[in-house]
Amino acid sequence: MYRLCIAFSALTAVAWSQCNGGIPAAEAKDFLAAHNKLRNSISSGNYVAKGRRMPAAKTPIMNMVSFLTWDCEIEKSAQAVANTCVFAHSKNRQNLGENLYTMWSSNKVSFSGMGNKSSNSWENEFQQYGWNDVKLTPAGFSSGIGHATQMAWAKSTKLGCGMKLCDGEKKVLVVCHYRDAGNFLNQNVYEPR
Ligand SMILES: *[C@@H]1O[C@H](CO)[C@@H](O)[C@H](O)[C@H]1NC(C)=O
Repeated sequence: MYRLCIAFSALTAVAWSQCNGGIPAAEAKDFLAAHNKLRNSISSGNYVAKGRRMPAAKTPIMNMVSFLTWDCEIEKSAQAVANTCVFAHSKNRQNLGENLYTMWSSNKVSFSGMGNKSSNSWENEFQQYGWNDVKLTPAGFSSGIGHATQMAWAKSTKLGCGMKLCDGEKKVLVVCHYRDAGNFLNQNVYEPR
């Protein structure tokens, strides 16, 4: 019986992110990979948003300028917002961009797959609404691509995300924070070649 319990708990153990926050390591990895895949595709001139190929970036991705890296301090601030279980942008973010995602079910939900689900839902804005200008115009922003442009924003180089199961584990709230903050109107998401 004792051995059985040990085996069971080993099977269900979650590896948490290296920052000892509330996000499983696998989800943190998926967040980072999904963001950098998008950024790499854009910067190399391979990204097609609803039929429109975006221009390559002036600064090649090789020099890592537009790659995002994971940051524990930023993860912590994102987790603090997730812990509120309220789907609303936080106030006083001080140079942090913020993307939110939530989903709920009549059954219990889990963290598993949420890194990809949230990232894909944000990126899908480019596919759904199109992306007509490298510059973030007011019209572009209000077309509904704001999560996607924050993902792609070249001057945001640090990422941290948190997640929380809420409402009796029937809802998950996902929060990603970005530094520097992106989504400044009339600035370029990235510098085109
Ligand atoms: C997330 O997507 C990546 C890339 O498609 C894949 O390799 C990974 O296994 C996915 N993660 C989960 C939890 O399905």
